[in-house]
Order: sequence, then C-alpha cells, then structure tokens
Amino acid sequence: MKRVLFVCLGNICRSPAAEGVFRAKAAEAEFQVYCDSAGTGAWHVGKAPDARMQATARRRGIDISQLSARQVDLADFYEFDYLVAMDLDNHHSLLAMAPANRECDIRLFLDFASGPEREVPDPYYGGTDGFEHVFDLIEDAANGFLEHLENEDDD
Ligand code: 4NP
Repeated sequence: MKRVLFVCLGNICRSPAAEGVFRAKAAEAEFQVYCDSAGTGAWHVGKAPDARMQATARRRGIDISQLSARQVDLADFYEFDYLVAMDLDNHHSLLAMAPANRECDIRLFLDFASGPEREVPDPYYGGTDGFEHVFDLIEDAANGFLEHLENEDDD
C-alpha cells in the first residue's frame, strides 16, 4: 500500500484538507492508500484544523474535524513513499531537511493539477474566498495525484 504525507506550514489549513480530500477520493476509487499530513512549523501542534477550513470542507462533504496537527519528523522521510508539499516554501523546507538516504519522493502537489498554478496559497490571513480557492485547487490536484498513483501501481 502506498503511503502519502501532505505537507504545509501549519498543518491546520491546506494539508489537512488535502489529507481529507485525498482519503475520500481514494476510498471512492477503492484505491488502497495510507494518508497523513504534517506541517513544517510547530506552532499549531495538537490543534484541530482551522474552523474556516473545517467549514469549507464540510460544505464539500469532507469531515476533517478529527485531525490533529503535527510537525514533519525525520522518520517521515523513511516511512512515506511521497511527501507532497503545498507550496514552494514547504517543498524547499522538505528538501533542506531530507536525509541523503531518504526513500521518499518529495513533490509539489500542484504538479499533479490540471491548471497553471504551482502553489496552493496560504489562506490563513485571508478571507473565506481564499479557503474556497484552496479547496478547488486541492480537489483538482487530488484527482491528478490519484491517477498518478494508480498508473504507478500498474508498472
Ligand atoms: P497552513 O496555513 O500552512 O495551510 O496550515 C497556515 C496556518 C498557520 C500559519 C500559517 C499558515 N501561521 O503562521 O500560524
């Protein structure tokens, strides 16, 4: 079974949403995958996802209320097949802390999306529109990432 870790800065907005959306899409497609999420920063460790992100997810049929923030750990580089970063800063942080003998692929989530954007923008200091846009990007990238994993499994 593939193991996938979604990574953002705080692990209370983007990556928990990505975890919830991807878990639901994989389950719907009956694709076996283990999903988790983490933040490169430690400010919100132990907290539930941001209430605005929870509300946006709930409106789209995804319950992320039970998730709890944690920070990326060195063991993650060995325990996951993919570390999937929400933006270029997160991607850079992961590459900077990656052990030389890591076994995971470190990717940008929107590399799997259909649009031209490269980053899922940080919605934390913005309004509700920002969360809706983030969720649109995540749903789109989740479709492409699932397709990528399914094709990989055929190899
Ligand atoms: P996230 O959003 O990385 O999508 O979870 C953020 C949450 C908190 C902060 C920044 C981004 N913060 O600075 O506390």
